[in-house]
Parts: sequence; structure tokens; C-alpha cells
Amino acid sequence: MPDPAATEALGAALAAGVAPGRVLHLRGDLGAGKTTLVRGLLRALGYRGRVKSPSYTLVEPYEVSSLHFYHFDFYRFKDRSEWLSSGFREYFNSHSVCVVEWPEKAGDLLALPDLEVELFFSGDHRKATLQAHSAAGEAWLSSLRLPS
Ligand SMILES: Nc1ncnc2c1ncn2[C@@H]1O[C@H](COP(=O)(O)OP(=O)(O)OP(=O)(O)O)[C@@H](O)[C@H]1O
Ligand SMILES: [Mg+2]
Repeated sequence: MPDPAATEALGAALAAGVAPGRVLHLRGDLGAGKTTLVRGLLRALGYRGRVKSPSYTLVEPYEVSSLHFYHFDFYRFKDRSEWLSSGFREYFNSHSVCVVEWPEKAGDLLALPDLEVELFFSGDHRKATLQAHSAAGEAWLSSLRLPS
């Protein structure tokens, strides 16, 4: 992915498989493009407003395309006990779509997501790997029409 638009295009490609109950984890170093990917995803779902990083608020909620869509960033969790006290567990239910940056900050307390995207630096480009962890995640992967 040569530029932010390409990272957004990967996010947009994921929109086709979004449905209530789906969970997407985004891994990758600081600045790898996780929030950029979510911006592309939300735009493709029809969201026209500003997509901010949830790094301070921990969660940004969106109502888009009849979905309850939650964008989390757990970078600021010092340890996994903060996930427990955050009360965020109840957001992860069959009615909501949850996208999580820095899921590893909740340790092993988060259930495996349907789909995991990892973003890597590669010179001034980025690379991505995608891995499904459930049948819904496999279907999500199959729905992808990846940008070239
Ligand atoms: N494929 C790309 N090539 C070059 N720059 C990119 C690419 N994708 C995103 N960027 C840029 O990288 C910067 C960091 O992106 P972003 O905020 O999405 O990273 P992040 O993974 O969410 O970081 P953090 O871990 O701090 O939340 C932004 O300026 C963004 O425009
Ligand atoms: Mg981010």
C-alpha cells in the first residue's frame, strides 16, 4: 500500500463483509495505518463525518448504515485489568460491530476476533496480512474484492 489512500481502500474493501456481531482486530506498530483503515471502512459504509482516532477517548461510536459501530483503541491501557474495569465487554455483542486497535493491550481477555488485520511498515509503504478466526471471518475474507 503506497499511500494512505491505499490503506483506506483496504478498509473500504472490508465494508462488504461488515454485519452485526462482527469483530475486527487491527494490529501493527504506532502509525502503521490502523485508524486510516477504519476511516476507509466507515466512509465505504456511508459515514460522511470526521473519523477521529479514539486514542484518548478509547472508543468512538458511530451509527452508520443501520449498524452500531464501535471503534476502540486500547493503546492507553496499562494492563489488562483496565479492560476489565472499562466495562467495554458489554459492547461486544451480537448487535454491534467492534473494531479494535491495540487489542493486545487487553492481554488474553479479549475473545478471538472474526478477522484480524496486521499492518507493517515496509520502507515508506505499508503491507497488510489478514487472518480469519471464525466461520464468519472466513466468509468476510471471501467477500473481499481487494484493490490492486
Ligand atoms: N499506506 C500508507 N503509506 C504511507 N503512509 C500511510 C499509509 N497508511 C497510512 N499512512 C499514514 O500514516 C500515519 C499514521 O496513520 P494512522 O494514524 O492510521 O496509524 P495508526 O496505526 O492508527 O497509529 P496509532 O497506533 O498511533 O493509533 C498517517 O499520517 C497516515 O496518513
Ligand atoms: Mg490509530
